[in-house]
Amino acid sequence: MTVNPVAGDLADLSPSAVSLRGSWDDLPATVLAAIESNVGPVERVEPAQDGYSSHVAATVWSGRDRVFVKGLRTDHPAALAQGCEVAVNPFVVPLGPKVLWRVETDGWDVLGFEHLEGRRAEYHAGSRDLQLVVDVMAELGAVAGQDAPVPRAEQRWAPYLDDPASARMLHGDTLLHTDWHHTNMLVTPTGHVRLVDWATATRGAAWIDPACWVVWLVYAGNPPRAAEQWAARVPAWRSAEPGVLDVFADVLARYWQYVAIHHPNRMTGELRDASARWAAYRRSVGPAGQ
Ligand SMILES: Nc1ncnc2c1ncn2[C@@H]1O[C@H](COP(=O)(O)OP(=O)(O)OP(=O)(O)O)[C@@H](O)[C@H]1O
Ligand SMILES: [Mg+2]
Repeated sequence: MTVNPVAGDLADLSPSAVSLRGSWDDLPATVLAAIESNVGPVERVEPAQDGYSSHVAATVWSGRDRVFVKGLRTDHPAALAQGCEVAVNPFVVPLGPKVLWRVETDGWDVLGFEHLEGRRAEYHAGSRDLQLVVDVMAELGAVAGQDAPVPRAEQRWAPYLDDPASARMLHGDTLLHTDWHHTNMLVTPTGHVRLVDWATATRGAAWIDPACWVVWLVYAGNPPRAAEQWAARVPAWRSAEPGVLDVFADVLARYWQYVAIHHPNRMTGELRDASARWAAYRRSVGPAGQ
């Protein structure tokens, strides 16, 4: 999930109230023409059901193609996410969809992706998708992403560290997705997970991805202990030295608290609670619980 700046007192807003999503018809004719120069005349547009951090997100059919299109107006800070998607793409295909083209014109930054067939993953206890997510996370852990031009974990989470000296714990060369929201996991008809939404790709310690996933698992109703047991199936989890998960659970709790304060809605509130629950669990079991 990309966090969107929102102004005002938003104490009781629903997720849709912080959505950037507009409609396909918002695209200026010049931008549409540039898109059509890549795909041919657009025949049908189906807006994405999930996500809210792009001004336009839709499956688009033309006579010769079906692509997934994500676009942002460049005057919005979230448009920087487009550059991240492009930069990380050569490293993550085929785990993620290939970027086919980019249109930057008339105040818009629009990406055309390979369209993926799939449904969103389910994270509740007993879901068969959990093992598929473990599998794709393990595959990503094996990608040689040390040259990917993405932010470093120790910089990204620095504002949420209690002790700046702990930053070195986050250091590493593993290419991380970090946004393990179940809507970013597309379960394909062949029973694999493919990962979309690379806007917050990061380079850091290998155990960070399974640790980020724990919060989403708790958010989906799994008790922290069960959530950790799933995360522990990812080989990288075992590379976490004693104590670092305690520190990182606190980092994520502070991060989600920040998000819930600045972008209040039911979902961010529940993520704040889920991350706080995990951090409290880590404190109750101590490093031995790793
Ligand atoms: N290549 C793709 N093929 C098919 N569907 C896709 C593809 N990429 C994304 N989607 C669908 O569109 C939804 C929104 O895309 P994505 O998460 O990348 O963008 P977003 O809305 O900008 O971000 P956020 O989820 O951070 O709000 C995804 O949850 C997924 O269901
Ligand atoms: Mg998303």
